[in-house]
Amino acid sequence: MRERLLALKEEALGELSRVENQQQLNDLRVKYLGKKGRLTEILRGMGALSAEERPIIGQAANEVRGAIEAVIEEKQTGFQKAETEARLAAETIDVTLPGRPAARGAVHPISKVIEEIEDIFIGMGYTVAEGPEVEQDYYNFEALNLPKNHPARDMQDSFYITDELLMRTHTSPVQVRTMEKMKGQVPVKIICPGKVYRRDDDDATHSHLFTQIEGLVIDRNIRMSDLKGTLLQFVQELFGKQTQIRMRPSFFPFTEPSAEVDVTCAMCGGSGCRVCKQTGWLEILGSGMVHPRVLEMAGYDPQEYSGFAFGLGVERVAMLKYDIEDIRHFYTNDLRFLKQFVHL
Ligand code: DAH
Repeated sequence: MRERLLALKEEALGELSRVENQQQLNDLRVKYLGKKGRLTEILRGMGALSAEERPIIGQAANEVRGAIEAVIEEKQTGFQKAETEARLAAETIDVTLPGRPAARGAVHPISKVIEEIEDIFIGMGYTVAEGPEVEQDYYNFEALNLPKNHPARDMQDSFYITDELLMRTHTSPVQVRTMEKMKGQVPVKIICPGKVYRRDDDDATHSHLFTQIEGLVIDRNIRMSDLKGTLLQFVQELFGKQTQIRMRPSFFPFTEPSAEVDVTCAMCGGSGCRVCKQTGWLEILGSGMVHPRVLEMAGYDPQEYSGFAFGLGVERVAMLKYDIEDIRHFYTNDLRFLKQFVHL
């Protein structure tokens, strides 16, 4: 029996020395040491041994088991180490590889112009105010002295939501909302940028959605010359020192008197070109002295206070500044167009 045990040991160690992977190792473990394995098979014959022989053979069997187990253990450790190393090698990260650059967006030209105009007015002591795009008839029309029969109130020209609610057609309602909030205090010095909506058919110069910036100043002794000086300063900062303005009489229900303001054409410097249609001038905003009725409705005594207001189309300014020929470029979001503004 002893010989059989030793032969078993030799055979097992021989086989183990040739084992190549974990699976083979497991198989050999079962084959030699398993419940129905070769060692158990031999030990089943122990019952036939004498009392003296039994412990000796028992000890020999333990030694054989120990020797086989030791080799299995050693192989096992080797395989595990190799596996870990292989995994580490496969998962190596090359930290020196250049990264994939994230695509960088750019500020939209309309936002750019709004920011620039805000900066100019903030520099003159104004604050930025905002109001809702879904507006009440009262703020959009009534409180701005736009009478019920005014064409701008027509269903054909405005997007109505209900009889009393519509998409604001201009940023002027923010004037009224601001005055109400100020409760008669002065000075009021605000600009209000925002989207406005009109039922226009879109073409190169019209859009059903566009952007305006409203300005409002209320205090004692505000005069037309303050309006003119403010606008001159503004356009010179926006378009350059050489820019001049001209004011033409006009009409808006919320201002009296009212003026349309033109700037000298930045393209030709005033000599006449395609952009200014040979006139040398470009119309950029509407303005005027706040109508006494508008002041009164918002809680300011027109005997004591006066003010000026203006409203400017941002797309128009952006089109002039960047020589863009079609307003629709701003909204169709063609990357070839938008990318041109990355470095501005
Ligand atoms: N709200 C006018 C428009 O949308 C623009 C405007 C004109 C605003 C004169 C004003 C102003 O504040 O005084 O056409």
